[in-house]
Amino acid sequence: MRADGFETLAIHAGQEPDPVTGAVVPPIYQVSTYKQDGVGGLRGAGLHGAGWNEGYEYSRSANPTRGALEDCLAALEGGARALAFASGMAAEDCLLRTVCRPGDHVLIPVDAYGGTYRLHDKVFANWGVSYLPVPMSEPEAVRNALAIKPARVVWVETPTNPLLSVADISALANIARESGALLVVDNTFASPYLQQPLALGADVVVHSTTKYIGGHSDVLGGALVVRDTGLGEHLSFTQNATGAAAGPFDAWLTLRGVKTLGVRMDRHCQNAVRIADMLAAHTRVAEVFYPGLGSHPGHEVAAKQMRGFGGMVSFRHREGEAEAVAFCGRTRLFTLGESLGGVESLVEHPAKMTHASAAGSALEVPADLVRLSVGIETCDDLLEDLRSALR
Ligand SMILES: Cc1ncc(COP(=O)(O)O)c(C=O)c1O
Repeated sequence: MRADGFETLAIHAGQEPDPVTGAVVPPIYQVSTYKQDGVGGLRGAGLHGAGWNEGYEYSRSANPTRGALEDCLAALEGGARALAFASGMAAEDCLLRTVCRPGDHVLIPVDAYGGTYRLHDKVFANWGVSYLPVPMSEPEAVRNALAIKPARVVWVETPTNPLLSVADISALANIARESGALLVVDNTFASPYLQQPLALGADVVVHSTTKYIGGHSDVLGGALVVRDTGLGEHLSFTQNATGAAAGPFDAWLTLRGVKTLGVRMDRHCQNAVRIADMLAAHTRVAEVFYPGLGSHPGHEVAAKQMRGFGGMVSFRHREGEAEAVAFCGRTRLFTLGESLGGVESLVEHPAKMTHASAAGSALEVPADLVRLSVGIETCDDLLEDLRSALR
């Protein structure tokens, strides 16, 4: 039998009609604890995510709504198991605490989400886990860094936040495997619809589900998806021991969002391509960062490993920082705000906002950079908004 396609999995995986009532979407099980039939007699073994334990005991360990989301995300990324967290940062923290020990070393991208850099620089470094920023778009640089000092984890973002650089996942998977490192890919910008890192050889996928997966700017969340069930068990142990699991309502909102991920991503990509082309031809724009442009250094790798080029576009304002900042305040439809991946378009100034924590580091971003999260509004309206803010 043919395997189900992406959109079918997004709507059905982990979301069988409720076994008790037949409700066609998983109900919000807003509950902390579960009645036991005699001590240790847990109900619900094998239902929504409880397949991994012997039934429901306490919602920090397992909850049916969260389990439905986890099963769906595992199916969408082609993983053995997924775990859903209260935020993307909670997912990253759980992963690093599970796989790293004091004395371990991590390679991180020279261009990455500022919060990921902060977690390594301000939290894990204090616990004896060192890190080195490496240009992940250059596989040889990664190989050389591992030869000098082996790492427990090679942490990749592709495309990166906010400079949209692209790393070759399968090349890095080979390099990481040869040196015994885990390859972790933050797939937030692409979403599983556009890119599936596990199929390309990665060991772990990280998501801020706050972004494209949730898709409506109404919920925070994070996820880890793994190919290996043993690692999944270790992560689940840490998640339960430390407690940053997604709550049932948040899991339900995220699951509601993920059903339309495919159609939303198609429109995000279509709009972003037109916007990147317009900006590339604009006299007040010095440089556009979008992997869909033929001039982007990562274009060929992106075309090989992604189904589309995504909805994020960054550019440098030709007139410098002050004009870049002013531009962010002049748009009508692009709302000035942090975050990305929602149906509505957003604009921000990374150096002063999302990436302020990277100031003065190897991950510092240009002061004249503007980042756009291109939404799914009518594209002509978005183009007009940007043109008038650039005037
Ligand atoms: C690429 C990337 N990874 C991780 C995160 C952290 O996710 P959250 O904000 O859900 O904690 C973000 C947030 O912007 C992000 O852009």
